Amino acid sequence: MNKKIPLDIANLPIYKSFKKSPYNSTKHLSYFHTYSELLNKYRDKKITFVEVGILDGGSLFMWRDFFGKKARIIGVEFNPAAKKWEKDGFEIFIGSQSDEKFWDHFFKKIGSVDIILDDGGHTNEQQIVTAHKCIPFIKDGGLLIVEDTHTSYMTKFGNPSNYSFIEWSKKIVDNINSRCQGISISELIYKRYVHSVRFFESIVCFEIDRMKAIDSLPIENGGEVFNTKDFKLKNTSLENAIFKSRYRFWLYFRLQNLKLKRFFR
Ligand SMILES: C[S@@+](CC[C@H](N)C(=O)[O-])C[C@H]1O[C@@H](n2cnc3c(N)ncnc32)[C@H](O)[C@@H]1O
Repeated sequence: MNKKIPLDIANLPIYKSFKKSPYNSTKHLSYFHTYSELLNKYRDKKITFVEVGILDGGSLFMWRDFFGKKARIIGVEFNPAAKKWEKDGFEIFIGSQSDEKFWDHFFKKIGSVDIILDDGGHTNEQQIVTAHKCIPFIKDGGLLIVEDTHTSYMTKFGNPSNYSFIEWSKKIVDNINSRCQGISISELIYKRYVHSVRFFESIVCFEIDRMKAIDSLPIENGGEVFNTKDFKLKNTSLENAIFKSRYRFWLYFRLQNLKLKRFFR
């Protein structure tokens, strides 16, 4: 479907590369701003970029044009016909993204990479297994980008479900927050790799940085202390509630939650 493309998108280098590609690729309109925001800084760098899902090959050419000659572009695809793109200088690996052994073999051969973009089959299992196996092999400063995450809301993908990719991504948010001293809500391995998670329309991006994924605790700057009263509990009965009765403490938060409910509709 060819719509009128807004000028701010039409002028983006990634959009120009998309249009220049000699073979078919379909991308959502909103992705071009997201790609630009996430990927512009890697252009003309010696990076290893992996795309899961090749289909007609169009996006491989788009990435090569966008990242430039120094980039190593690798495609992963279940359909063996994709091997034909090797003649154009791409490295192609045939296998299923939901097969954990495939990824073991892949990283044994390739080593760590800079960016992985998952545009494969988009099922919960494919997206979660891919993220689980790939995150430990992404270099610091690198990204895992998962595309078409709207499938987490679609019945034909078995969703909504507690085990959708979006629900899994929210778990990673818990993991990040569990690095804060005293918060023990999640203990998955990703806690040591993922510095941040960004949610865009139909795209989730995990920024990998082991150096930044550190346990966190409050530190003071050493400046003069005035013992100023902290007003955060002012105008509430919270102080009384906390100190006088456990029941009132519980009740206070029950009432708060009822008031907040309208923001969750
Ligand atoms: C959306 S298309 C990829 C489009 C391409 N990235 C583009 O932008 O032009 C999805 C591709 O993922 C492949 N695919 C589906 N399930 C897969 C799996 N389990 N492992 C690897 N690739 C898979 C399909 O064969 C198909 O070629």
